[in-house]
Amino acid sequence: MRSDPLSVIEVAPEVVLLHGFAAPTDALDAAVEVVSAAAPFRQLKTPGGRPMSAFMTSCGACGWYSDARGYRYEPADPSTGKPWPAIPAVFAALARAAADAAGFGVFEPDTCLINRYVPSAQMGAHRDADERDFSQPIVSVTLGTAATFLWYGLERRGSPLRIRLFPGDVLVWGGAARKGYHAVRKPEGGTRYNLTFRKAL
Ligand code: SIN
Ligand code: FE2
Repeated sequence: MRSDPLSVIEVAPEVVLLHGFAAPTDALDAAVEVVSAAAPFRQLKTPGGRPMSAFMTSCGACGWYSDARGYRYEPADPSTGKPWPAIPAVFAALARAAADAAGFGVFEPDTCLINRYVPSAQMGAHRDADERDFSQPIVSVTLGTAATFLWYGLERRGSPLRIRLFPGDVLVWGGAARKGYHAVRKPEGGTRYNLTFRKAL
């Protein structure tokens, strides 16, 4: 992890890019393998029944889930009935350090959603709003390959800010930006992974 203050850029109010903060990513990449061996990536469906293009899994005390019953956090993996794998120590240390470096203070996430994007996968504009505690920031980590992230802000209209995220980049948003709309474009070749740390419960 880097602590170079020059790598801290506030790209919008309370949206902070920590360029290269998680580099090198080898230990994180290995931890993704460990988590996904226990809780395999799967293609969730929206409540309306459409398959999401990113494959997902989770670790922590709960995991984000979606099906016909809606968007929610599940205490166990519905596909196996087993608790989600624990958040790897290397993940937890990164999330804490990133929130602190971005100026959000003490952050203890209880879940990490892992998205896997093949080259045709992307994510439309949405906001992270299924958590109980909006006082806590979101810590979002790019692994694998680069992609363009779009930040709309509190309303889903107008032309968004475009931020190219490279492997090892960490984006943190919180405070008044916590419920900001965002989206991500297709990865730039290869497979991209994204870790999203949240305090959900
Ligand atoms: C998300 O908003 O859930 C994913 C963001 C990303 O992949 O960068
Ligand atoms: Fe999101």
